[in-house]
Amino acid sequence: MAKHLIKVAAVAPKLNKESVVAVVLSDKNSKISALENLISLGLTSEHDLTRLGAKNSPDAVTRVPGPNGSIIALIGGYKHGDLDSIRHVGGTIGRTLGEFRQVFLDIAVKDEAEATALLEGYAIGHYSYDSYKSNVKKQPAQICTLLTKVKVKPATITRVEIISNAVHDTRDLVSMPANDLYPQSFVSSVNKLVRGAKLTVTVLDEKKLAAGGFGGLVGVGKGSVRPPRLVKIEYKPAGAKFKLALVGKGITYDTGGLSLKPAASMLGMKYDMTGAATILNAIIAIARLKVKVHTTAYLCLAENMPSGTATRPGDVIKVRNGKTVEVTNTDAEGRLVLADGLALASEAHPDLIVDVATLTGAQRIALGARYAGLMGDDKAVQAVLKAAKTAGELAWHMPMPEELRSLMNSDIADMQNAKVGNTAGGMLFGGIFLREFIGKKSANSSQTIDWAHLDIAGPADNDGAGYGYIPKGASGSYVRTLITIAEQSVK
Ligand code: BES
Ligand code: ZN
Ligand code: ZN
Repeated sequence: MAKHLIKVAAVAPKLNKESVVAVVLSDKNSKISALENLISLGLTSEHDLTRLGAKNSPDAVTRVPGPNGSIIALIGGYKHGDLDSIRHVGGTIGRTLGEFRQVFLDIAVKDEAEATALLEGYAIGHYSYDSYKSNVKKQPAQICTLLTKVKVKPATITRVEIISNAVHDTRDLVSMPANDLYPQSFVSSVNKLVRGAKLTVTVLDEKKLAAGGFGGLVGVGKGSVRPPRLVKIEYKPAGAKFKLALVGKGITYDTGGLSLKPAASMLGMKYDMTGAATILNAIIAIARLKVKVHTTAYLCLAENMPSGTATRPGDVIKVRNGKTVEVTNTDAEGRLVLADGLALASEAHPDLIVDVATLTGAQRIALGARYAGLMGDDKAVQAVLKAAKTAGELAWHMPMPEELRSLMNSDIADMQNAKVGNTAGGMLFGGIFLREFIGKKSANSSQTIDWAHLDIAGPADNDGAGYGYIPKGASGSYVRTLITIAEQSVK
């Protein structure tokens, strides 16, 4: 894991061959020139850097020689006031300049908000996953210094570290192969990650799940020799007036079960616990940032395997809220474990429930690899959209057409989990199914709890090249959206 230390300085440093100076570009009158700040690099507006191959794009980095053996990295796309563009530039710096001991951000940020966005992008982007590489040497931490006269509070840097650690820890968990990550070992990771944070962890094992009527988790998990778990993590700060519940799909491996996936679709299914990893690290950050919101996370952990003990297509299970489901397709397992999680979350009558899941292949087909599909109640959807916009993460509001509900009727149970042979609107069926497990606002209310569902099957995994602060592979996306939802819910 790439480590770093963030500093802020107001005077030009001494450079050496271990240093790289990141400088942003301007393209006034379509001529690209470098915008020097505190270090005099000799790059004046006289230089037409277009001839060097420099591009005014936040994903293009052009390296040129600098003073005392240092390297200058020219990066485009910095737009004052546009925090997304600034985070993107910071991300490219962190992601592509990892081999240097010292990085100097010689960039004239206008205020603390711009400084924060730049450092946040850098810190989130400065990441590598090499736990399973035998030839990777431990490197000393990279020192990243923002050169600016703008005042940056120490608390701002702490915040950047908390948030970037949460994103990195999410990527680490998601990238871990399923021979090492399974429900029980996931619980061990939870216990390690929550250390020092004001969180209470409760674990329901397979016996407690069976006794508690969690038929979704039991039904999905029983094909595996590695039994399921439901992990409840609670953060209850004094004086909190808003109650937020987060529910995450944590399928540590999704073979499809007896409705087995074809080989090519199975590869990558270690990612199917991204929802659980995302909410876990979001609640850890929410606690470390001391956000005054009563937050509870429910991690629905199971391994979906085919075996002599697995749930058969056609079996009927009973979920925590008493509803019965005919399992017509064992590969639509995410909604079964989430049904239990959503029902349990509802029992505490929170003000808002947000679930996060790599739920459907249809999500990727509809929206591609960068947008999450967002469904739910209007108020909840608006809250998620607002937070996602602040965080600079992408989500798209999808409908839940009423006529699809009756297609989920079963001949023998309350519902079926999939409409076999129907591929139209696959993502929407996911949302429509989950809605059935949202409880009432209070014991005697007729209104259901505000709820939003984020299907992140596409953006969980960046299978293309890295860009901005997103590496190839596990993205760690939506951790920041969830943190922001909590921050924007403080009353
Ligand atoms: N884990 C998959 C969804 C998925 C697919 C995530 C591709 C990431 C990439 C999920 O459990 C699944 O298999 N869903 C089925 C549902 C269907 C059987 C109704 C799907 O999308 O095909
Ligand atoms: Zn599946
Ligand atoms: Zn799945």
